[in-house]
Amino acid sequence: MGLTDTPRWLPCQYLYDAKGSALFEEITRQPEYYPTRTEAGILERHAADIRDATGPVSLIELGSGSSVKTSHLLSAYAKAGGPVTYVPVDVSAAALERARARIGRLHPTVRVDGIVGRYDEAFPRFRRHSPAMVLFLGSTIGNFNHGESVSFWQRVSRELAPGDYFLLGADLVKDVSVLEAAYNDAAGITAAFTLNVFARMNRELGAGIDLDRLEHVARYNEDWQRVEIFARFNSKQTVRIEPLDSAVEIAAGEMVMVEISRKFLLRDLTSHLATFGFAVRQVYTDDRRWFGLLLLQKEES
Ligand code: AVJ
Repeated sequence: MGLTDTPRWLPCQYLYDAKGSALFEEITRQPEYYPTRTEAGILERHAADIRDATGPVSLIELGSGSSVKTSHLLSAYAKAGGPVTYVPVDVSAAALERARARIGRLHPTVRVDGIVGRYDEAFPRFRRHSPAMVLFLGSTIGNFNHGESVSFWQRVSRELAPGDYFLLGADLVKDVSVLEAAYNDAAGITAAFTLNVFARMNRELGAGIDLDRLEHVARYNEDWQRVEIFARFNSKQTVRIEPLDSAVEIAAGEMVMVEISRKFLLRDLTSHLATFGFAVRQVYTDDRRWFGLLLLQKEES
């Protein structure tokens, strides 16, 4: 995190401990944070159409969390008749258990076969669920930098059978003021989410950071087409890393990058995905074109 190149899978795990996950859930309810409710609206409106397009498939969801949005899809697939298998993948066993209980109540005919682990641990299990559709919602793809995105799509492309589907949620480029507001909510929940990483360092690494002297900064970088989220150190601090018996000096005014959230143009995304053997079968969006839901199909190679 700023010290070396970004490790591929670790950032999410740093951010989404129990407290981080609860804070993120709260972010999704803030009036400024439009992605979750916009995507949910698109899913609700087009779930039946998506079901008709794919026919019966197992649904594998990467980073399912509480699986709230997925409910619309599960309804549509269950309504069409025939058995439906839902495979949520999440690092949090507790989140999976909550999802299982919720789905058992709302969709009693759906078979839930969850995987506790990172996405890469689920990849080898794609084939046995084919015909399948992988769900990757919430624009989580936006957290990957270019290199991480390339390895992700290479791997997914290799593990899916030709003809299998992928449903991708992607937050789209839009007015800077709308983007920046979404990551600077007035209630300060996003700021708490950012600072939570440093509270965690204090707990787990004995970092000794004075959190009162950190400030959440989120701004849109037009050149890189991404929101960048930092903690600014407002005074010089020594961050200890007890397990390594070492320390890092952070200067006053220094910005430590915590997260990126890339924003996409549908045209670029479509050509990027084509290079990995994915055809865009359908693009669903909202009236304001703020969020895109792309139905992809792995082509015959
Ligand atoms: C869950 C990764 C899509 O980038 O919008 C929200 C995470 N971070 N506010 C996003 C997040 C701060 C979110 N994703």
